[in-house]
Amino acid sequence: MVNVLVVGSGGREHSLGWKLSQSTNVDKVYTAPGNGGTENNVPIPVDRLEDLAEFAQKNNSFTVVGPEAPLALGIVDFFEEKNLKIFGPNKKAAQLESSKIWAKNFMKRNNIPTAEFEIFDDAKKAIEYVKSINHPVVIKADGLAAGKGVIVCNSTEEALSAIDTILVKKTFGEAGNRIIIEERIDGVEASYISLSDGNFAISMATSQDHKRIYDNDMGPNTGGMGAYSPTRFIEKSMAKKIQEKIINKTIDGMKNEGASFKGFLYAGVMIKENEPYVLEYNVRMGDPECQPIMMRMDSDLYDYLLASTTGALSSLPPISWKNQSAVCVVLASKGYPEAYPKNEEITGLDFSSDETFVFHAGTKKENDKVLTNGGRVLGVTALGDSLQQAISNAYSAADKVNWPNKYSRLDIGKKGLAKL
Ligand code: AMP
Ligand code: GLY
Repeated sequence: MVNVLVVGSGGREHSLGWKLSQSTNVDKVYTAPGNGGTENNVPIPVDRLEDLAEFAQKNNSFTVVGPEAPLALGIVDFFEEKNLKIFGPNKKAAQLESSKIWAKNFMKRNNIPTAEFEIFDDAKKAIEYVKSINHPVVIKADGLAAGKGVIVCNSTEEALSAIDTILVKKTFGEAGNRIIIEERIDGVEASYISLSDGNFAISMATSQDHKRIYDNDMGPNTGGMGAYSPTRFIEKSMAKKIQEKIINKTIDGMKNEGASFKGFLYAGVMIKENEPYVLEYNVRMGDPECQPIMMRMDSDLYDYLLASTTGALSSLPPISWKNQSAVCVVLASKGYPEAYPKNEEITGLDFSSDETFVFHAGTKKENDKVLTNGGRVLGVTALGDSLQQAISNAYSAADKVNWPNKYSRLDIGKKGLAKL
């Protein structure tokens, strides 16, 4: 039996830890720093690599990294130098997410379908370029910006203002020293998450996120307001296409370039006219996609994560999934993704059912009370025999939970129903 140290504090990490704690190989699951719902919290921030390594060593732990920031810092390289077992991509491989420009050039070199793009570090040239074209664009800061460095533009004015925000005002700091201006692709967006051991990749269950803050995909982008799995937008033939044209080419390309990719590889894809294009790579599980995916997973997660680190994925059987739908409705604090209140007491959390689980994200425990502590607060996740049933189960559970400034979208999963 091993102990597991999950690094991170969101709903994704709560669901990974929840699933790992069910493994017959896992003894104790620690979470650093964790949240009000995770157990065995260790108060070490995700960027304190030395302290995390010391803890993992002392507690004989297999470490599972949830978020991108420590991966981009090189937590995997650091642990491996100390012979500590850790799941996730190393710093070089994490560039697929930590530098959008690196990722775009990588896709170009490897013939992986993505939107046409230009790169700028000079605002004047970027402005000239935007004025010279007449197709809609998306403007992206190169570096990590907590999911906010992407501006989808509807007009030249919006594009000029995005250049000003990222490149001139440096709203995202150094992450905005360079920008990508790319062609906007209008299609259906879905999340294709796979697991690789550097040579070979298997797919996780398909899912679809809801990135905008308001119903019907209106308002600014967020980290994700809810997700469901599986999604009919990725049927078998599309999954095959994504696996061949995107995932396998990415894994092979990374290996050939001396940056073998081990870990969860998340391709955010836009499907247009039955062809998939990569919008972004993430080098980790999605949040909130992870929550419904973990609810549907029957196989032992630990076996697969371990095999990713040892190169043994191809010797495992395919992952087995519940033949049910799962829906995660994110309950957020009103105001998110801008400023929002904190420290509000959450009530109504004390229900339980086999089919429903409340994953915590921005919460903390204080004197036996659970308080809000972030923008995305909880991910109420439910299974159901149909997508409609899973939606009803998730929303009836979500209705039981309350705090003064609770906000959620009311249409999570609806896109999937429309596709039925
Ligand atoms: P990213 O972080 O690159 O995935 O961008 C965040 C969001 O912006 C995506 O989830 C899409 O909704 C949108 N987006 C990014 N790139 C494009 C594109 N080329 N065309 C249309 N929408 C895009
Ligand atoms: N839900 C989108 C992401 O994790 O990046």
